[in-house]
Amino acid sequence: MAKVAVLMGSSSDLPKIQSCLDTLKKLDVAFEVRVMSAHRTPDVVKEYISGAAAKGIRVIIAAAGGAAHLAGVCASHTILPVIGIPVEGGALNGMDALLATVQMPGGIPVATVGVGSGGATNAALLAIQILALNDSALAERFAADRAARRQKVLDADEAMMKQYGN
Ligand code: RP5
Repeated sequence: MAKVAVLMGSSSDLPKIQSCLDTLKKLDVAFEVRVMSAHRTPDVVKEYISGAAAKGIRVIIAAAGGAAHLAGVCASHTILPVIGIPVEGGALNGMDALLATVQMPGGIPVATVGVGSGGATNAALLAIQILALNDSALAERFAADRAARRQKVLDADEAMMKQYGN
């Protein structure tokens, strides 16, 4: 049963948030992916979000670009935690999406990650950290992933020192 819902405002967002889906898959987290828009299909967003908790969803990740209201609208319809991914692109290259996603009014939080592939990865990792509070096996997988990221930097440092002889 899916624990995480990944929503995007347009299918054109998919390549930009692929690292989010890849990270959830890598850490073996069940998720579902939907395209729905705060502006183009607001009725679908409301209906989906209103029923999400009852069907087992525990964290919502919402990605949108431009006037990116998807995450905020999701947060307004649920008490589940909502993570917003501001999608880069368009005339302002993601600055618009960043400000639209992060500047929520007090009382309706959206945990906004950074613009770009790293931000999409972090959205998945943050969702996993929330789920791992009640899932020790997932907490172990998360810890192993973090250790692997550490090791990668150590290996790169070693290779660099070898290459430049220091
Ligand atoms: C937003 O508008 C979407 O999230 C997307 O980032 C952007 C452009 O959408 P398309 O015109 O490519 O469908 O709602």
